[in-house]
Amino acid sequence: MIYPVLEVQGLVNRFGSQIVHNGLNMEVREDEVFGIVGGSGTGKSVLLRSILGLQRPQAGNIRIEGRDITQMSTTQLRTVKARYGVTFQQGALFSALTVLQNVQLPMLEHLHLSAHERDELAMLKVRLAGLPADAAQKFPAQLSGGMIKRAALARALALDPRLLFLDEPTSGLDPISAAEFDELILYLQKQLRLTVVMITHDLDSIFRTCNRVGVIVDQRMEVDTLDGIVKNPNPWIQAYFHGERATGRLDERAKAKVERHGT
Ligand SMILES: Nc1ncnc2c1ncn2[C@@H]1O[C@H](COP(=O)(O)OP(=O)(O)O)[C@@H](O)[C@H]1O
Ligand SMILES: [Mg+2]
Repeated sequence: MIYPVLEVQGLVNRFGSQIVHNGLNMEVREDEVFGIVGGSGTGKSVLLRSILGLQRPQAGNIRIEGRDITQMSTTQLRTVKARYGVTFQQGALFSALTVLQNVQLPMLEHLHLSAHERDELAMLKVRLAGLPADAAQKFPAQLSGGMIKRAALARALALDPRLLFLDEPTSGLDPISAAEFDELILYLQKQLRLTVVMITHDLDSIFRTCNRVGVIVDQRMEVDTLDGIVKNPNPWIQAYFHGERATGRLDERAKAKVERHGT
């Protein structure tokens, strides 16, 4: 591919006098897992909403597969939206619909399938997301937190996207469920050749899954590999990656690398 899968240039987002982004740049490459990190309220979700075309920025270009979505009509945006999958921070499943019906919603909107074909296809997505078959007929309120995340993931996979956006996919999960979710993302990334953009606070998740990381600091983004970003002198980045919680992960990663190279 000639273009990066996703390219953001000079993004500006303001709410009244509050400047959230002021010239933010980022680029996501094919087949990578790109992590987006930043303190609370630094504009991670606003960035995602801008990329998804749900919110028009004050300035800047956002190109998905080379096409600038900030210049698109609603109709043009609709076709772009059919090409990516997304899970929102709050899960955002429809509570009055079963898991299977939730997964079928994007199919109803974008595909011409019979009810039977839709059932089969949706069931496939449910299983891909690691849910047991009997979860398909349940309502969101009957699911655990981890299962809701998986149901949202199944819906995000409904239209066979190549690009997947995840907003805080492991937040609220216990460490074991979070680790299982990370493995699922890695598995699907490889099997379905997905490019993944993941907003997360979860250091374990970052170190396990991400190739490169973008950190929102001072209304812009610092982008680097994991090994590079931990050496970035920005004070917030230093505090984040070199706090008590992060140091152990770096050691583990270094050890894992030595073991891998040693065998
Ligand atoms: N629709 C909106 N109207 C006004 N302010 C908003 C709106 N959406 C987000 N903000 C503000 O923008 C900032 C960034 O929000 P958000 O992207 O949700 O942060 P986070 O990095 O925690 O996801 C916050 O200060 C938030 O209050
Ligand atoms: Mg957020």
